[in-house]
Amino acid sequence: MLSQRVRTMEESATLAMNKLRLDLRAKGRKVFNFSVGEPDFDTPPFIRRAAYEALESGWTRYTAVEGVPELRDAVASHAGGLRGERIARDEVVITCGAKHACANVLLAIVDPGDEVLLPAPYWVSYPEMIRLADGIAVPVLGPRENGYRVTPELLLPKVTPRTVGLIVNSPGNPTGCVYNPREIAALVAFAKAHDLWILSDEIYDRFVFAGEFASPYRGEGRARTFLVGGLSKTCAMTGWRIGWAIGERETIAAIGRLQGHTTSNIAAVSQAAALAALAGMDDPALRSMVEEFARRRARVIALLSELKDVYFTPPEGAFYVFLDIGAHLQRRRANPLEFCIRLLEETGVALVPGDAFGDPRGVRLSYARPLDELEQGIHALASYLSK
Ligand SMILES: Cc1ncc(COP(=O)(O)O)c(C=O)c1O
Repeated sequence: MLSQRVRTMEESATLAMNKLRLDLRAKGRKVFNFSVGEPDFDTPPFIRRAAYEALESGWTRYTAVEGVPELRDAVASHAGGLRGERIARDEVVITCGAKHACANVLLAIVDPGDEVLLPAPYWVSYPEMIRLADGIAVPVLGPRENGYRVTPELLLPKVTPRTVGLIVNSPGNPTGCVYNPREIAALVAFAKAHDLWILSDEIYDRFVFAGEFASPYRGEGRARTFLVGGLSKTCAMTGWRIGWAIGERETIAAIGRLQGHTTSNIAAVSQAAALAALAGMDDPALRSMVEEFARRRARVIALLSELKDVYFTPPEGAFYVFLDIGAHLQRRRANPLEFCIRLLEETGVALVPGDAFGDPRGVRLSYARPLDELEQGIHALASYLSK
């Protein structure tokens, strides 16, 4: 009954973990949910108010498939401002979150058998999206010593005549790595030398706590880059489904046609909320959320540094830490999923196993949780590891 396409899609490794976590919570057990991929803050009041007002004033109908013109303009100016580029309305399409933007870019530019270089550890959905577009994901593991960042030297041996593109995700999920301007320039030069496009997922662009943010959507990299962004993380708006893809006009128009036959426009009320959010990026509620993440990051790095036989590179951005627990896995003769299940059962600490991100030595910890919960949970993790 099921199509080949859906049958070969991997189930998320986090589902089993999630079920177990919910079972434990239902039994009244204390759970430290460090597996979350979203800010633990509510959408700020000024954005919610704009949405109520929009509903009252009739933002309840279909809109242009690519998004209302004023929102495309607002995104162009927001994304262009941070990257020092002037972006036109018809280079922007509004999508149902950054996930939809990545999927649509790949569907629009990947042909069957095309190979896409995928730096690992990677965000779980990229390989499945590449497969959905009938492409082939070619993972390239970045070394922990280099903050999990890949270099042209690491990518080069994986290039074949079928290689068409490269995924860049900085700040990155699950490692929090941030590529600096020099590293981004080297990747752009590599892409140019091999005539590759770049899909640059910059959903965490406002969460940079160390190092310097850089985007390949700039200068000479711009012409070959598709920039993906959104408001899910930046404005604590995961449920509103607001994302965008920015790039060369012909492809953006093709994505508009694709959406015209699949999802149509994103909810009109979400577009009104997005307009308010983009106009209020300096709002204190948004600034204090970023400051809180910076505080948590510092504390979490200090606590994790004390764990024995656990290695990590301090994340520079996003809100994750990727822990190399290879020594513990070996000692316990467990794979990361088994490790995470036992850890959850015994301590209530929920992490995400690294196999889901293409690195079977690791686990991901999200610090999108209150500071006291992070402290208690990491202490519980420490005592579990010392057993
Ligand atoms: C790297 C990365 N890209 C995209 C997304 C999806 O974002 P959205 O909720 O806007 O679809 C996520 C969410 O976890 C992510 O981590």
